[in-house]
Amino acid sequence: MKFPKGFLWGVATSAPQTEGHSLENGKSATTWDKWFSLKPEIFNENQGPATTNNTYEMYPEDIKLMKKLHITSYRTSISWARLLPDGEHLNQEAVTFYRNYFQEMLNNGIRPTVNLFHFDMPWWLMEKGGWENKEAITKFYFYAQTAFAQFGDLVTDWVTFNEPLVHIEMGYLSHYHYPAIVDFKKAVQVGYNTLMAHVMAVKAYRESNIRHSRIGIILNVTPAYARSNDPQDQTAQNVADLLLSKSFLDPAVHGVIPEELIQLLKKHQLLPETRKKDLDLIQQNTVDFIGINYYQPLRVKAPSNPRFPAKDTTDLFEQYEWPERRINPYRGWEIYPEALYDIAMIMKTQYSNIPWYVSENGMGVADELRYANKDGQINDQYRIDFIKEHLVQLHKGITQGSNCCGYHLWTFVDCWSWLNGYRNRYGLVSLDLDNNYKRTIKKSGFWYRDLIDHNGFEQ
Ligand code: NOJ
Repeated sequence: MKFPKGFLWGVATSAPQTEGHSLENGKSATTWDKWFSLKPEIFNENQGPATTNNTYEMYPEDIKLMKKLHITSYRTSISWARLLPDGEHLNQEAVTFYRNYFQEMLNNGIRPTVNLFHFDMPWWLMEKGGWENKEAITKFYFYAQTAFAQFGDLVTDWVTFNEPLVHIEMGYLSHYHYPAIVDFKKAVQVGYNTLMAHVMAVKAYRESNIRHSRIGIILNVTPAYARSNDPQDQTAQNVADLLLSKSFLDPAVHGVIPEELIQLLKKHQLLPETRKKDLDLIQQNTVDFIGINYYQPLRVKAPSNPRFPAKDTTDLFEQYEWPERRINPYRGWEIYPEALYDIAMIMKTQYSNIPWYVSENGMGVADELRYANKDGQINDQYRIDFIKEHLVQLHKGITQGSNCCGYHLWTFVDCWSWLNGYRNRYGLVSLDLDNNYKRTIKKSGFWYRDLIDHNGFEQ
């Protein structure tokens, strides 16, 4: 099973999940420092945002390991609160750190894909309302301009946001991320302002003199699968697609907000406050590529007890467990590789076959270190099988003409996570926090190297 020539084989992570030094070297606090101080118990073994991989100091070692595994693309992010601790003044130490970090990648033949926002809202801005406040859009525009000016010569692919909808669902429609409230109207406003921040970052990029790279956005798109052909289940599916896929994909690729989405929000009295010039800005600032994060499908059915107007998404659609589902026994999520083929076809037929890549896919395993052998190595055949199954589907989509140009596994070295610290491990390389952050390549790491060498694998 061969992939197209030049296909990118990469790994993905983010600044807040790996850098460590969360309140050091000039960096100011983010909502994660606050959230951890309020709810330390939700993080496994009290591992907060300061306990991450220490990539801040250890990136040369990580990049050496990446090179050893022949990885050619590395996706991470910049921390806004590190680069501009108060939103205005540049932290020179951060500039030096990121420049060295990206240069080290280039020196080792690895393309840096750099994202500007990975759920890590600076605390000073959150205190003013975060994305609820339109001032955040202007602040983000300035941050994007600064990042392009400081690192534009080194970065290959720029990304404005990672999974903007997850941040909103988790923080404004459920209690998993700060501010942990359920308020549909606010969630829509936050979503809209985030979209405008994305648009303004693309604008800043187009205004810069960078010409050798490209800019995109990373979305956790999954087609919604309806429980049945019953019209109510079908409506639920359509609404889920509108809210969770098209709301960002359509403006990012086509430069428009779907009329159906506007009508839906209107009907439920959820229309956000907008500015006159917004629609033009959206139209003028579309992206060069899309990154798709895919883990598990979205299975929906008609809501059982809908309120009107809707108070949250469960009044519009409900998630349900597909009876034929296959489950990852180590993590509990559904495994459905076929969705990756469906996504490939959606990108081809509904989104002008824009260049896109898998920006995240991977298998989480709870407490994986307990499976290590006496030398500390993890024989994670289950992860290899998971990746293969997904690649088979992706390959099918590419063979049928979908313009997919790469695959990034989440993640390289096991990293910190938003909901449970270090419980669920996803890496090709394991991390031993009790042993000076020791990194050990898993079986999947060596398998990934062979995959890269052959630009494919034997089924
Ligand atoms: C999506 C997010 O982008 C990332 O931060 C997270 O850790 C992974 N998925 C794994 O759940």
